[in-house]
Amino acid sequence: MSLLSVRDIGIEFGGVTALSGVSLDVRPAEIFAIIGPNGAGKTTLFNVISGLYVPKHGRVELNGEDVTRFPVHRLSELGLSRTFQNLQIFFRMTAAENVMVGRHLHEKRSVLPHLFALPSTKKQNAQTRTKAEELLAFVGLKGISEQTAGNLPYGALKRLEIARALAAEPKVLLLDEPAAGCNAVETAEIDEIIQKIAARGIAVVLVEHDMRLVMKISHRIHVLESGRTLAEGPAQEVRRNQKVIAAYLGKHAGEEATHA
Ligand SMILES: Nc1ncnc2c1ncn2[C@@H]1O[C@H](COP(=O)(O)OP(=O)(O)O)[C@@H](O)[C@H]1O
Ligand SMILES: [Mg+2]
Repeated sequence: MSLLSVRDIGIEFGGVTALSGVSLDVRPAEIFAIIGPNGAGKTTLFNVISGLYVPKHGRVELNGEDVTRFPVHRLSELGLSRTFQNLQIFFRMTAAENVMVGRHLHEKRSVLPHLFALPSTKKQNAQTRTKAEELLAFVGLKGISEQTAGNLPYGALKRLEIARALAAEPKVLLLDEPAAGCNAVETAEIDEIIQKIAARGIAVVLVEHDMRLVMKISHRIHVLESGRTLAEGPAQEVRRNQKVIAAYLGKHAGEEATHA
């Protein structure tokens, strides 16, 4: 049974089609990659799935429920969480506080006990902090919880962003270019984290340009080109697909060769 189901999505901006007829299904514990050249519609698809854009056609289902027009916070409550291509970190806050922001949605806190700081709220805060520290450890950032995010290196911030997305306890996690701008060592760390997340049963949908990372860890790959599906299948199949090679991998390889 698929956890996330995207059915025949179409969206346009000012008459220009950004996505057309895109469908996909993601299962629990699956690492599902979406690849394609710049402008293919990957981020737009994430924005549709995560409720930032309302599509013109089609629907998004979570656990069989049509969530297409649900607001972002409702989707978060239902178990959908994401990271952004450009970091969305609060640089003046500590690492732990950044994670706790993600946790906030998950807390059942009413306004009144919060105002009077009753013990139940304090207990919840302590629990939230413990959870934040657990998540920081999970992404390999143990011991930096009190550091100001703005003082952390870029690779740590990419992992902090993943920890924050995990704090909402998602069933489906959308990662938009989690290894962008990372060096080989940092990318290997991200690779390991993604596999650990999927091993917990979370469905991971990954947009990523690093083909080595995508080919290594993805169970299935969905290829977009100019807003349409070009191919979908396991890594071994997609990397041999002639249409994919011509439209994307070939061109990419060509670019890499040019820069070598
Ligand atoms: N908010 C928007 N307004 C206008 N055009 C947009 C908007 N978001 C995306 N697009 C267009 O949709 C297409 C797909 O963009 P995007 O989803 O960012 O591609 P990718 O993430 O694959 O690089 C591009 O042509 C882009 O210019
Ligand atoms: Mg993008």
